[in-house]
Amino acid sequence: MELVDDLTTLRRRVRAWRQNGEHIALVPTMGNLHRGHLRLVQEARAYAQRTVATIFVNPMQFGPQEDFGAYPRTLAQDRHLLEEEGTDLLFAPTVTTVYPRPPEEQTRVEVPGLSDILCGASRPGHFVGVATVVCKLFNMVQPDLAVFGEKDFQQLLVIRRMTEDLCLPINIVGVPTVREADGLALSSRNGYLSPEERARAPAVHRALLAAAEGLKAGQGTDEVEQRAAAELEAAGLAPDYVSVRRALDLALPGPADTDLVILAAARLGKARLIDNLRFSRAR
Ligand code: PAJ
Repeated sequence: MELVDDLTTLRRRVRAWRQNGEHIALVPTMGNLHRGHLRLVQEARAYAQRTVATIFVNPMQFGPQEDFGAYPRTLAQDRHLLEEEGTDLLFAPTVTTVYPRPPEEQTRVEVPGLSDILCGASRPGHFVGVATVVCKLFNMVQPDLAVFGEKDFQQLLVIRRMTEDLCLPINIVGVPTVREADGLALSSRNGYLSPEERARAPAVHRALLAAAEGLKAGQGTDEVEQRAAAELEAAGLAPDYVSVRRALDLALPGPADTDLVILAAARLGKARLIDNLRFSRAR
């Protein structure tokens, strides 16, 4: 696997593959890779002859009080894991390669509606940062398809909508959340948890499972959301939101909607944990 940090080499490699008639899959990440990221690489390899992974801790998607500086950077270890997984090329650009201009002069990509609810409400500007960097990475790599985790459900929908709205000829593939044995969704930010906090963290997945059961049994969304939030508080987490939405577009569900997702975000120590569960409700 080749490690590349400049655009000229990246484009040269990708062009050679394309001239050979090979399909290219992209797996964008911020590094500090775990089994969840590696599942995306496996999925990418199942779809295309060539897989490009990117590692870039994107300053534009972090708020001023967030963990951009502290975000774990483990390039040597990540490189090894990607190599073992059969990745063809790792693109790990510097901030100035991705953002040659000062932030206030950078062209932005905004997906209205989907970007200011749920995580976007607590993290203003976050999804503009995500959509902008993913659009740039798409244009740098020019893949046939790109793979993202359902763990970040809202992010996946923002990227799908952006790709459609900007007519980008890229297939977006979603991959189910990879979890620890106790249900906790794998995340680079789980490393912020103390052992005692780590033991309490599976409460998020448990609360979502119970909420989905309640909804399937005919309980109302308000009741189910409030109970899940109370369960998180009882486990010592500070819920940011628990919300039942339509899986298609994250709109508030009406009685006729059956394809639903329940999403939650909660603080635990230094970490902000997010998770979701998609399910269908019989009519
Ligand atoms: P990052 O948090 O590194 O995640 C990279 C990809 O891995 C995302 O598509 C995310 O949904 C997926 N992922 C993370 N944990 C997962 C899990 N437990 N199971 C399955 N997939 C998982 O998301 C980002 O980076 C950034 O916002 C990015 C898209 C790279 C733009 O900067």
